[in-house]
Amino acid sequence: MAKLLVFSGSTRANSLNAKLAAAAAAIAQQQGADVTLINLADYPASIYNGDDETANGIPESIRQLKKIMAAHDGFIISSPEYNGHIPPLLSNTFSWASRAENDETGMVAYTGKKAAIMGASPGRLGGIRMLPRLRDTLAELGITVVPGFVTLPMATSAFADDGALTNEAAATSTHSLVQRLIASCNA
Ligand SMILES: Cc1cc2nc3c(=O)[nH]c(=O)nc-3n(C[C@H](O)[C@H](O)[C@H](O)COP(=O)(O)O)c2cc1C
Repeated sequence: MAKLLVFSGSTRANSLNAKLAAAAAAIAQQQGADVTLINLADYPASIYNGDDETANGIPESIRQLKKIMAAHDGFIISSPEYNGHIPPLLSNTFSWASRAENDETGMVAYTGKKAAIMGASPGRLGGIRMLPRLRDTLAELGITVVPGFVTLPMATSAFADDGALTNEAAATSTHSLVQRLIASCNA
């Protein structure tokens, strides 16, 4: 059974991407995956600085996150778009979690992992400019990103009270994307 870790690139209360991540997690569960939904707010870290790492090592929160990532086959990431790019939270988290310690070889959180990428925004483009940058970022970490993506434009009105997607196009593309991710993890 594919083990999937799902998270949002926003820790904002009422984050649209957290809602999309939760909807994708529910869909992945329906498709038989073993799903862990986390909030990056539970894994805080200061902005990466090499002197800080030399003096204090990797933050305990990031150590835990690395273990959780290493224990999963794939990730579903729903991210906001900030000025066309991935947000600093994701960039910082990815940087910290790429750091090795003790007898680790390579990037234990990333090597051999698969990922599916999504974006939600209140505007009309749904984070479309950010998605290729997120794909490249993950590829540089050694993660295989499955083809395609989900964009959720006008996301403030895209969810029912129970969190389900009311945007049918996004719901359909999320089902397909998750299916591809699970197939890739099981291959
Ligand atoms: C610094 C900043 C830059 C932003 N740039 C973009 C952008 O380039 N494209 C876009 O669609 N929305 C942009 N937005 C609006 C976000 O899409 C919106 O705040 C969204 O709700 C953030 O995701 P969240 O709801 O998951 O926190 C920006 C917001 C901030 C704070």
